[in-house]
Amino acid sequence: MKRNLLRLLAVTAIVWLAGEIIYTRENPEKKYTGVILDETTDKLLKKSCFDCHSNETVYPWYSRLPGFSIVMGHHVVKGRDHLNFSNWDVIKEKNPEKIVKLWKEIVEEIDEGEMPVASYLMLHSDAKVSKADLDAIRQSLVDNKIDITKKGKHDDDDDDHHDD
Ligand code: HEC
Repeated sequence: MKRNLLRLLAVTAIVWLAGEIIYTRENPEKKYTGVILDETTDKLLKKSCFDCHSNETVYPWYSRLPGFSIVMGHHVVKGRDHLNFSNWDVIKEKNPEKIVKLWKEIVEEIDEGEMPVASYLMLHSDAKVSKADLDAIRQSLVDNKIDITKKGKHDDDDDDHHDD
């Protein structure tokens, strides 16, 4: 019995340490302070997406628990890799076409219920994006003349490798 308990403690300690070593929870300096789309949309994105898709991640206390730190750290690294709103100005300047593509993906992911990530919603129920919220984003895109219905140059490819 005692040996099993020691084993469990050892495994827990290793999992915890691994999370501490791999993921620093540091937010990179770079921020974007301009407008992403409009006030309402920006607020929603900040509430529902920024923890994984910006350099402004807020880490809750349980992000320090063994296991949690690894899952959350992984989400943030992967999330930023796909889409980082803190680099919005850089993307816009370097590759304006990518902005339309990103909006298209954002709308799609929300529409399909893929984003925000389900496990995140279990702990952040207020991050849920309603149908009305999504409709409002679509309308704002139209108002801002961002046409996500148009077929882009790279739409048929696995584009991440073509336009970075
Ligand atoms: C808990 C972290 C988390 C939150 C919150 C979150 N995402 Fe993500 N998102 C991810 C991860 C992780 C990936 C990478 C998915 C993968 O690798 O399969 C991702 C990928 C994406 C992608 C790229 C999809 C692709 O196919 O390349 C888009 C677009 C996206 N998220 C939009 C959003 C939007 C919009 C929100 C808010 C409404 C949001 N995400 C909230 C973690 C998150």
